[in-house]
Amino acid sequence: MKTNYWIVENNVDSDKSCPQIVEASQFLKDDEVIAFPTETVYGLGANAKSDAAVDKIFSAKGRPSDNPLIVHISNKEQLAELVEEIPPAAETFMEKFWPGALTIIFKKKEGVLSERVTAGLDTVAIRMPDHQVALALIEAADLPIAAPSANVSGRPSPTTAQHVIKDLAGKISGVINGGETGVGVESTVVDCTSEVPVILRPGGVTKEQLEEVSGPVQVDPSLKKGEGAPKSPGMKYTHYAPDAPLVLLDGSVDWIQSLIDEKRQEGLKVGMLTTEENKDSFQAEHILFCGSRSDLGTVAHSLYDVLRSFNESDVDIIFSETFPQEGVGMAIMNRLQKAAGYQLLKEK
Ligand code: TXA
Ligand code: MG
Repeated sequence: MKTNYWIVENNVDSDKSCPQIVEASQFLKDDEVIAFPTETVYGLGANAKSDAAVDKIFSAKGRPSDNPLIVHISNKEQLAELVEEIPPAAETFMEKFWPGALTIIFKKKEGVLSERVTAGLDTVAIRMPDHQVALALIEAADLPIAAPSANVSGRPSPTTAQHVIKDLAGKISGVINGGETGVGVESTVVDCTSEVPVILRPGGVTKEQLEEVSGPVQVDPSLKKGEGAPKSPGMKYTHYAPDAPLVLLDGSVDWIQSLIDEKRQEGLKVGMLTTEENKDSFQAEHILFCGSRSDLGTVAHSLYDVLRSFNESDVDIIFSETFPQEGVGMAIMNRLQKAAGYQLLKEK
């Protein structure tokens, strides 16, 4: 399949009449799939009302069909067609965080969206992305757009068009290159169908930010231990993993270095995922740092790119620092734990 490629300048080509957007949106109208930038990660979009279009997302990604997709909209008026009701908590969150990195779970209206989008659930996940190109594309298509992250299932999500091309060239109808994404981790998924809102996936909007506007918010307990059946179907799959095994290390620089030394003595090539603060403190075959511990937003921003970069080295094992579970740290640790298959060692 030919994969078309469009370059857009985010603050210039941000109108639904811009030629690249018009061309790309025609593919969506024709039930083809297109990758596009959002403020979190690149999405792989398709007409959420069409079984044929949504099937193409699942086959391009190799995604299990029981994992439902997020529906992207460009204005709140589109909601009325898609959901049964808008609970007060959802109203508050939309007011404060849309457009933005927050996906809200609603009771769905039957018979509107492709059943494949919601994987047989009676709820639907909806988000309005805070990215001018994404909004213009959805508006030009004049459709609700189902869009998971535009990676092959299991790999780290794409934060550049190059990541998308590496995973999906030849398998999709096109990629809109709008440069690097900002947030770097996916949206927060919050279930507003229960009395107290529940975070099913931590992401760009933090628990603290949600609580500030709505009062207490719960966190799906299965996220904490990585045990039990998560309410968000996607959270049960191995995800975000680089090729080499990853182990998280919670301890001092000296302790981490002693574990690196042990592996090197066994003849293994060791990769170390660290931060600006510690990048000169380790000796290993391949040292990559993602952002600064003093601003976890910078860690989220480059986390997936760094995880992907380890695949360009020949390391046998990767060690990573851990992060405090506050603010966006909760999303960072969630992704790292999944990438590591929950292998975490603590210094005694
Ligand atoms: O930032 C993002 O959210 C990106 C960009 C492209 O918008 N999209 C994204 O989609 O991360 P995806 O498909 O990779 O993740 C969707 C998550 C999965 O964990 C899925 O299980 C959950 O949302 N989800 C979707 N519909 C749901 C529903 N009805 N109930 C519970 N969880 C749902
Ligand atoms: Mg994903």
